Amino acid sequence: MGCCCSKNNYEEDGHIRFRVIDGRRYHNISNSEYFVANDGEEADRLRRYHDALKTIWGGLFHSPIEEKLKKGARVIDLGCGTGTWLLDMSRHYPKSHFIGIDFSPIFPTENLPPNVEFIQYNILDGLPFTDSNFDFVHQKFMVAAFTQAQWKEKVIPECLRLTRPGGWIEFVESDAILMSDGNATQRIANAIQSFMSSKGLNHKIGEDIPRLLEITDAFTEIRNKKKPVTLGKKGGRPGQETLIFLTRGMNTIRVWLSGAMNIMPEHYDALVEAISFEAEKTHTYVNQYRICGRKKDRI
Ligand SMILES: C[S@@+](CC[C@H](N)C(=O)[O-])C[C@H]1O[C@@H](n2cnc3c(N)ncnc32)[C@H](O)[C@@H]1O
Repeated sequence: MGCCCSKNNYEEDGHIRFRVIDGRRYHNISNSEYFVANDGEEADRLRRYHDALKTIWGGLFHSPIEEKLKKGARVIDLGCGTGTWLLDMSRHYPKSHFIGIDFSPIFPTENLPPNVEFIQYNILDGLPFTDSNFDFVHQKFMVAAFTQAQWKEKVIPECLRLTRPGGWIEFVESDAILMSDGNATQRIANAIQSFMSSKGLNHKIGEDIPRLLEITDAFTEIRNKKKPVTLGKKGGRPGQETLIFLTRGMNTIRVWLSGAMNIMPEHYDALVEAISFEAEKTHTYVNQYRICGRKKDRI
């Protein structure tokens, strides 16, 4: 399947589409604080983690929507990345229709299954769908995508608007920092936390999503699960894959973090490398979350 990772860096009107810094490509969208790369290397990182995450959580979703999906449901994945989750879902539920949204064109564009569409769009601009359009609204790993205010004022209200009464919303999240006694792990964790809070981003948004859903008073049921995932060999194959996923993620933000920490990029690389050694010596883990909510029949 082709994807548009390799398209040039300019819009038709000459506007710069992407910024290429330190050998990595980033979006150039003014109302977004998202700081992770959007190039082929990042696409590979996202794709590779799909199977491990399925093992960690025992499947593709937790909302009780299996029967509806078998009969035919409308599903949207916000911030779909490479679309790997959506494509897997589309194979299991051929009668359902799946739409993936991402402002970075790292999703496939050719040979799509007939029940899958991808749209390049910024969630923060409000989505081009009428109210109550979807039976299932899904969003995964968007901790670095929205500020705390954007989650509350734009993202949750938009998810709610798109969900039909009685439909389900599901968020899968990970803390953006690792927990460990290791020195290098703690140094990087502290730096990520201060870098994110300087941008108004909440590095533990997964912990706050249930409260953000509750205050809308629009749900009949909210289910909330937190899972500490042990990294490295002690965590088995999923733990090893999670460590790779997260340290590769740290590589994509080297330009921002080494600057914020006031250290040379090579020093930053050495600290990220040390995280993998520390994970084998001490207990290192990351908290993941899965939050599901059923929209009230009447609000
Ligand atoms: C960490 S990736 C997760 C991708 C995918 N959900 C997954 O789990 O593999 C976050 C994605 O959100 C997208 N994103 C961030 N802010 C966005 C926004 N305002 N509108 C649309 N997509 C956004 C990024 O381009 C990136 O593909």
